[in-house]
Amino acid sequence: MKRLGILLSGRGSNFEAIADNIAAGRLQASIAVVISNRPQAPGLALARERGLETLCLPSKGIEREVYDRMVVAELRRREVDLVCLAGFMRLLSAYFVREYPLRILNIHPSLLPSFPGLDAQQQALDHGVKFSGCTVHFVDEHLDAGPIITQAVVPVLDGDTAETLAARILKEEHRIYTEAIALVLSGRFRLEGRRVIREP
Ligand code: GRF
Repeated sequence: MKRLGILLSGRGSNFEAIADNIAAGRLQASIAVVISNRPQAPGLALARERGLETLCLPSKGIEREVYDRMVVAELRRREVDLVCLAGFMRLLSAYFVREYPLRILNIHPSLLPSFPGLDAQQQALDHGVKFSGCTVHFVDEHLDAGPIITQAVVPVLDGDTAETLAARILKEEHRIYTEAIALVLSGRFRLEGRRVIREP
């Protein structure tokens, strides 16, 4: 059974979707640890309630690579195979990325490369796009930038606010993150430049 390490900073709904899919037998994996850089992250409490191992490693005031070395040590200790960023509000250092080549995923609430960074749904509204969505991608040391594994598209409706659009996108996030994790764990893909090509 492949072992996931979940990193989060906030609400934790993507973490919960992954945990639910594992519990329902829709994803063959286990969650080895849930790590948060914010002590107050609701996602951390949710993980604790589920009886999962949790770890709070506050990142405030710690130099990026020093912090990442602490996180990697904890992931290694638990023999984590795949790192899933689920609302983890930090850039990873080149060190972290090198330690887990093609083994770190992130989910972002836009169709990358459009609208990276914070408030992606508001960015989409402000720009006036008619479709937005979400993206699961491999993580490199740049913001929301690595090779794209999968995306889902949702319409932007005339009456949308950032909140209603975010809710429509979030539903798709919860679906495609698990699909992307399953694909990466299966190893049935190859990388051609930036393109993630599925293999039979
Ligand atoms: C999601 O919108 C995700 O795409 C982004 O941060 C948000 C995290 O939400 N990276 P949650 O904590 O998983 O509920």
